[in-house]
Amino acid sequence: MPKLQTVGLGKRFGDLDVLRGIDVTVPDGAFVAIVGPSGCGKTSFLRIVAGLEPQSAGQVLIDGVKVVGPGADRGFVFQNDNLLPWRTVLANAMIGPEIGGRADAAARARTAALLRLVGLAGFENYYPRQLSGGMRQRVNLARALAIDPRILLMDEPFSALDAQTREIMQTELLRIWEQGRKTALFVTHQIDEAVYLADQVLVFARRPGRIREIVPINLPRPRPLSIKRTPQFVALVDHIWGAIEEDVRASVFNAET
Ligand SMILES: Nc1ncnc2c1ncn2[C@@H]1O[C@H](COP(=O)(O)OP(=O)(O)O)[C@@H](O)[C@H]1O
Ligand SMILES: [Mg+2]
Repeated sequence: MPKLQTVGLGKRFGDLDVLRGIDVTVPDGAFVAIVGPSGCGKTSFLRIVAGLEPQSAGQVLIDGVKVVGPGADRGFVFQNDNLLPWRTVLANAMIGPEIGGRADAAARARTAALLRLVGLAGFENYYPRQLSGGMRQRVNLARALAIDPRILLMDEPFSALDAQTREIMQTELLRIWEQGRKTALFVTHQIDEAVYLADQVLVFARRPGRIREIVPINLPRPRPLSIKRTPQFVALVDHIWGAIEEDVRASVFNAET
């Protein structure tokens, strides 16, 4: 049985047809990236899977069970870090277990171990303002993992980072993902980021948002950054760019529509 399945998923905001007929099947442990032009419904799709937004049509199934709201089986990493400034790194990462009513000593120890895993050993008692952007996104990742979700949902988590930090975070994310192999959905604007991370890239089209193509990424793992310079990698990026170029041009030149 697939870990995650969407069947005929649709979304309308009033008159706006945002998503239509999204059928996705994600096997357990797969890393799926989602790319597509601005406004094609990527965030809406992720929020529906997270149970933060109701769909207008179709269903989301996790382990065959219909999603009806948010749950501890899904961890969400948002585009902009939303750490609480008055809480330390550890206290921020503990928010999930606290909400779940499981903020005991064992949960604190697990969360501290996750902070070490994301490279924040020694920063447990720092406050967000004392951290770089990359470090804050590491806290967000640890926080999403702290509830031990079955599925990790990430919405452009690295988009606010500079290019070098972003590449480091990509390798770090893969290193962390290799440890637990949680099913992951990762939205990005950057096609090379999608190809580098994923087993499968969903290419979304716009107006209404739907799946234009599902591109399997059969690159070996683990993946060093140098894989980005191989002919197979470049060919995959070119192929995906070819699939969305027209849509991206339309979204740039008709930003208001
Ligand atoms: N809460 C909302 N109410 C009305 N329209 C929305 C809402 N959220 C998103 N939209 C619209 O839905 C479309 C898809 O948005 P979004 O899912 O954020 O796209 P993406 O993440 O791919 O850029 C956009 O046209 C956006 O303006
Ligand atoms: Mg978005």
